[in-house]
Amino acid sequence: MVLNITCIPGDGIGPEIVSQAKKVLEAVAKKYGHEMKFTDILMGGASIDACGEPLTDEAIATAKAADAVLMGSIGGNTSTSPWYKLPPEKRPEAGLLKIRKALNLFANLRPAYLYEELSAACPLKEEISKAGFDMLIMRELTGGLYFGERKTIEEGGELKAIDTLTYSESEIRRIAIKGFEIARKRRKKVTSVDKANVLDSSRLWRKVVNEVAADYPDVTVEHMLVDNCAMQLVKDPAQFDVILTENMFGDILSDEASMVTGSIGMLSSASLNDTKFGLYEPSHGSAPDIAGQNIANPIATVLSAAMMLRYSFDLDKEADAIEGAVRQVLKDGYRTVDIYSEGMKKVSCSEMGDLLCERV
Ligand code: IPM
Ligand code: MG
Repeated sequence: MVLNITCIPGDGIGPEIVSQAKKVLEAVAKKYGHEMKFTDILMGGASIDACGEPLTDEAIATAKAADAVLMGSIGGNTSTSPWYKLPPEKRPEAGLLKIRKALNLFANLRPAYLYEELSAACPLKEEISKAGFDMLIMRELTGGLYFGERKTIEEGGELKAIDTLTYSESEIRRIAIKGFEIARKRRKKVTSVDKANVLDSSRLWRKVVNEVAADYPDVTVEHMLVDNCAMQLVKDPAQFDVILTENMFGDILSDEASMVTGSIGMLSSASLNDTKFGLYEPSHGSAPDIAGQNIANPIATVLSAAMMLRYSFDLDKEADAIEGAVRQVLKDGYRTVDIYSEGMKKVSCSEMGDLLCERV
């Protein structure tokens, strides 16, 4: 089959890791008789430098015309980069928010699990980490505080900033359905996270989630307050299967969950709409401090490419081949510097890409 993929190399380590993921996808294509058609677009700082804005309408049109988007990372050092002297709507991150909205990517899937081979990197006490964990955060991505009306006004001689948090029933229902559907393919448990003891939006969230849950009697549902969830993630992460939550809570909890694995360079993510279309990107950022040194870990991006094959193209065998290659490369003792430990073989970003291709 022909796979039309728009790539967003982006900023920082983005271009290095995306080129490794392309290499691995080409290896998959060769083995299974597919054709990869890659088209690059600019987003973030790279687009600001070239076009004066973080994402152009032409770039969005190119992405829309593709079957899926594979992204590296965007943004730079927020204290030193000139991009952060621009007004907020002109900064790199605005490009990411714009593409999420423009492509209606309301469902953000962020898996966080402990690799047996990397369990030493887990910052939790051994008595907790030895149980292992494998969770998926299903974050609502196009509503809530991120897209509510915001303004800063002057009132009574001082500035006052206002951000609004709204959710409609339909916005909650569609993400809840995605959460329950995916739970069905996993361990059949949904933990819906909210702040229903304080927020109206959370009380509506809980009501709609319970309505959706009624259609999935085979899936266990529980509700958890977000502050408790932040605690439980370090206390007993093994209890979680699918965590279903709104945009801002999901932003924060997904960073916490990825840190708890100790290997953020290994975690992929997918942002999906109601069709097969999706945007796939690593869970980590653009790491401007190590950009251009060929030492970044490309595995999170490579695994995001595997998610893309699975969710957007239904190519399960091909996705398995990539995931198998990642496990094998770890078993064989190869590590980029971020996951390196004594006795392992330290490799560069591009060497890791080559090793993965061989194993595909
Ligand atoms: C993420 C990032 C973005 C977000 C930023 C860069 C706008 O933190 O993808 O989690 O907050 O959604
Ligand atoms: Mg974030």
